[in-house]
Amino acid sequence: MLNDQLRRVLQQMPKAELHIHIEGSLEPELIFALAERNGIKLAYGSVEELRAAYAFTDLQSFLDIYYAGASVLLKEQDFYDMTMAYLKRAEADNVRHAEIFFDPQTHTARGVAMDVIINGIYRACQDSPVSATLILCFLRHLSEEDAIATLEAALPYRDKFIGVGLDSSEVGNPPEKFARVFARCRDLGLHLVAHAGEEGPPAYIYTALDTLKVERIDHGVRCLEDAALTERLAKEQMALTVCPLSNIKLCVFDQMEQHNLLQLLDAGILATVNSDDPAYFGGYMNDNFIATFEALPLGLSHAHRLSRNGFVAAFLPEEQKHKFLAEVDAFFAKI
Ligand code: HPA
Ligand code: ZN
Repeated sequence: MLNDQLRRVLQQMPKAELHIHIEGSLEPELIFALAERNGIKLAYGSVEELRAAYAFTDLQSFLDIYYAGASVLLKEQDFYDMTMAYLKRAEADNVRHAEIFFDPQTHTARGVAMDVIINGIYRACQDSPVSATLILCFLRHLSEEDAIATLEAALPYRDKFIGVGLDSSEVGNPPEKFARVFARCRDLGLHLVAHAGEEGPPAYIYTALDTLKVERIDHGVRCLEDAALTERLAKEQMALTVCPLSNIKLCVFDQMEQHNLLQLLDAGILATVNSDDPAYFGGYMNDNFIATFEALPLGLSHAHRLSRNGFVAAFLPEEQKHKFLAEVDAFFAKI
């Protein structure tokens, strides 16, 4: 059990969230409210019925429901309301900075225009006291041509997102499938990240690094299966955006007691804690920290390190990064 002091520290310490899919923050209540507002009929009769369907066996079983939930988003205000609801929740968890993923192809495929998506999400970020930036994710189960067309459609709004990522069904869709579009994004000066080593093998982490030239690995927990890779990630201080509750809900680990977060830290890896899809996986940032610290032998020094790691790994100007890190260190100096 967590002692009261450690619980309070985990709740109150300043945090950066670097792995949050904004469509995965849609709570069932908001899904139903937006469905009603937009005259959309859902396959589930009630909030309770929808929530009861959140019993996942793997990544794909989640993605099927996640894409269905996102179908209620049609208007700019819908994207604004979803993002503002997340940012309010993040603020309550003392998240100071969030780098938010969004999946435009999930919406453009339903006829929603790119400007509606980006403007709605971006405007909420501007209106929030939480520092927030956007990362456009390509759906890896679709073709690279589709990703290239998506990038072209988003380029008029280039100033509203800081980077690109790669998400959706991992196994069978290796990073190298997207070599050309990532090379183009690199030329455009965008930051690069990719999901790798969640369900996929260590080989996908290697190609995310060497072919896509990403600056962070999303998840990456399977790196420990390869000693040379583990050593390399530590040496290069390549950040992993780890999502503990997600990993349990999607059966990457059977139980939190088996999660490898502490082994990653002990190997010298720059691991961070994040919520992934908080509405679907049982919690936001503080829930992820508390569940992890309850199950694993982690203490105050790990809390300090994880709080710092989030800002160290963030895509922030140096001056802003140091301001946040000073805030973290001041918080821990007072304990
Ligand atoms: N993995 C892959 N794709 C996703 C995820 C994830 O954890 N969440 C939302 N899309
Ligand atoms: Zn994710």
